[in-house]
Amino acid sequence: MTALDGALVRLRPLASADLEPVFSWYNDPEVVAPFDRFSVDSFDDFRDAVSNAADDPTSLAPRFAVERRDDGRVVGVVGYYRAHPVLEYMDVWYVLGDRAARGHGFGKEAVGLLTGHLFSTTSLERIGATCDVENVPSYRLLEGLGFRLEGTLKSALYHHAHWHDVRVYGVTRAEWEARAPRE
Ligand SMILES: CC(C)(COP(=O)(O)OP(=O)(O)OC[C@H]1O[C@@H](n2cnc3c(N)ncnc32)[C@H](O)[C@@H]1OP(=O)(O)O)[C@@H](O)C(=O)NCCC(=O)NCCS
Repeated sequence: MTALDGALVRLRPLASADLEPVFSWYNDPEVVAPFDRFSVDSFDDFRDAVSNAADDPTSLAPRFAVERRDDGRVVGVVGYYRAHPVLEYMDVWYVLGDRAARGHGFGKEAVGLLTGHLFSTTSLERIGATCDVENVPSYRLLEGLGFRLEGTLKSALYHHAHWHDVRVYGVTRAEWEARAPRE
């Protein structure tokens, strides 16, 4: 796996130089916490998780760095994981740890590249994603890419001392190919 290029960002495997800055995002509650659970990891566990992710479809470790095409800076990470022990689909996830980079289309393009890559390299028929009902940028990103709202899980995510409802999104291979025939 080399790289996936879009107009704005390149997805590429994480290099060893990426690990410290990406780990610092994971340990910054301002980056992770607004719509999600926050828990601190150790650097050694994080590094091991990244290096073992290729062999583990359930791994939550980041699988690609999101690098800006204009200046080469890594502004985020994306990943995917087998979300259900029986059902056959992958959920994608995405974080722009560099908060100044948000709102410029990098996240949307990165998730589009990742989704196209999964449909190209697997036989899966559905790619999914979930997000807190309050996470407007996240669900607008998904809807802009053609993910459909499939339902809402009530009280499925606990953070900030409350249970939160979660939106479930999905896109089928046929839907993806109909909207993005070149991916
Ligand atoms: C979610 C996230 C990856 C989106 O990436 P991004 O690069 O900021 O988003 P984009 O610029 O690609 O915009 C995607 C869509 O969201 C909209 N959007 C972006 N920021 C927004 C905001 N603050 N409020 C409302 N809409 C917003 C954009 O207008 C765009 O919609 P459109 O295609 O209909 O115009 C980024 O905000 C992030 O890292 N958030 C924190 C981590 C997180 O919540 N991850 C998802 C967990 S489910």
